[in-house]
Amino acid sequence: MLDKLNEIEKAALDSLQSVNDQAALEAWRVANTGRSSPLMLVFAELGKLSKEERPVIGQAANRVKVALEAALTERAEAVKNAALAKSLEEEHLDVTLPGRTRHIGRLHPSTQQLRRVLSILAEMGFQVYTSREVETDEINFQLLNFPPHHPAREMQDSFYVEAGDRGDNPILMRTHTSPGQIRAMREFAAMNPENPPAIRIALPGMCFRYEQITARSEIQFNQVEGLAVGENITFADLKGTLIEFAHRMFGQRARTRFRASYFPFTEPSAEMDVECFVCGGKGCQVCKNSGWLEILGCGMVHPVVLQNGGYDPKRYSGFAWGMGPERQLMLRYKIEDIRYFWGNDVRFLEQF
Ligand code: DAH
Repeated sequence: MLDKLNEIEKAALDSLQSVNDQAALEAWRVANTGRSSPLMLVFAELGKLSKEERPVIGQAANRVKVALEAALTERAEAVKNAALAKSLEEEHLDVTLPGRTRHIGRLHPSTQQLRRVLSILAEMGFQVYTSREVETDEINFQLLNFPPHHPAREMQDSFYVEAGDRGDNPILMRTHTSPGQIRAMREFAAMNPENPPAIRIALPGMCFRYEQITARSEIQFNQVEGLAVGENITFADLKGTLIEFAHRMFGQRARTRFRASYFPFTEPSAEMDVECFVCGGKGCQVCKNSGWLEILGCGMVHPVVLQNGGYDPKRYSGFAWGMGPERQLMLRYKIEDIRYFWGNDVRFLEQF
């Protein structure tokens, strides 16, 4: 019997050497110390032994039981440590890896510039009026005094929107923000047709032209239109307003000049230049050595346009202008290719 116990112990301890995980530990425990293990069978048979043998074998069996349990505990500890060491090794964190930067969104540079322009104009009393991007030929051109075959129409090739046969009044994407002048004047005039109220508004928004996309021309761009209509408004008001705007936008010392120009919807018409802020007027690549940068078109609202808007040109007068925020940004930051604006390259966009 004692030999048998020694064998049981030796076999159990031997097999414990190859136990390497939690499942094998449990299987070993059941096989070697469980209810139907060889060791437990020895206990079960103690009753059949003689009085003399019983305590000797009993003690020996108990010693084996204690030894096996101790061996199991020790092995369990070793298995646990091995598992921990393995997971530390495998799940090892490389704290020297550089972190991932978080990309924080920002407003598009055009939006930022639009907001700068509009906030200056707001301080000067111009309220924002948003007009539609899809227009009729009548409002985009005809009511702005572009007759049907006027050559100035060719300055603005258009995207037409399929809308059945509308004859001389097709639907198109607005080519400039000026049609908003007609919509605004008509809306204000309708409030009081006998005595239409004075108007002082800024009309921002996207414009579209059917053009070859190049570094200098895009098929879409923003404009900010300005319109002031009232009694006794003169060209001096136009100049005072736009010079003040230029000072607030480009600095109090920015010099400006007006040059005569032509637009069908204004008479007289002009273009305003600011002294080149890149070279200070000395002449450089940005201003093409002229020392001046053209920043907007303007003029006194043509009597026909006032009439079309519901404002009697004998009583009312007004001035208007149109300028491009993308153009201002290109000049300010020497951006040489207009395609960057809608190219969606974050390397460009995140610089603003
Ligand atoms: N609509 C013109 C354009 O797109 C810009 C412009 C010029 C607007 C003179 C005006 C203006 O209101 O008075 O080129």
